[in-house]
Amino acid sequence: MLRFHFAAIAWSVTIVGLFTTVAHSTADDRSVEPVESAITVPTPDDVVAKMLDLVKVKKDDVLYDLGCGDGRIVVAAAVKYRCRAVGFDINPLKIDQSRERVKQAGVQSLVRIEQKDIFKVDLAPATVLTLYLLPEMNDQLVPQIQKMKAGTRIVCHDFPIEAFQPEQRITIKSVETDAPHEIFLYRLPLKPRK
Ligand SMILES: C[S@@+](CC[C@H](N)C(=O)[O-])C[C@H]1O[C@@H](n2cnc3c(N)ncnc32)[C@H](O)[C@@H]1O
Repeated sequence: MLRFHFAAIAWSVTIVGLFTTVAHSTADDRSVEPVESAITVPTPDDVVAKMLDLVKVKKDDVLYDLGCGDGRIVVAAAVKYRCRAVGFDINPLKIDQSRERVKQAGVQSLVRIEQKDIFKVDLAPATVLTLYLLPEMNDQLVPQIQKMKAGTRIVCHDFPIEAFQPEQRITIKSVETDAPHEIFLYRLPLKPRK
């Protein structure tokens, strides 16, 4: 419960910061002023590993992380599974952090990082989506998700796609946060919640 409150507060700060950015930016606009106050909450590395395991990433997958933060999910996927991956974020500070992480891991041939509003991204090339976004953002993505290929897998950290029934739902305790984290797995076509 405490963790949820922390996440909610951190998210509120992030959203306030992001509204400022969005108001002045266009996709891939590097002239955007950095959002110094944008605190983002990353997925702990052990939860990232479990998400990638649950969604059964394969070498021929193309994984998109929508709101990639510091790039830890796309880099972890490329390092462990050698799949291609693309991370999208609207915050230029996160783009710089992600690109640095990609370079440090030596996976530049597999991973691309793009500064874009996730609600304007064509999701068609992806076979796996990873999401750690507020439920209302997940809901807003549904029209884009519904255009994706049948069989596409989606794995969400902590916040489900509320109107739809997950194929699997698990809770793991992270050693990093010492708290439980929920993971939801979906497969297209999405099935309405029972
Ligand atoms: C909670 S963080 C998750 C980061 C990463 N996926 C992870 O799990 O560690 C959410 C990220 O979404 C980004 N974000 C929020 N709204 C966005 C939008 N409309 N377009 C692109 N990125 C967005 C934020 O900048 C933030 O980095």
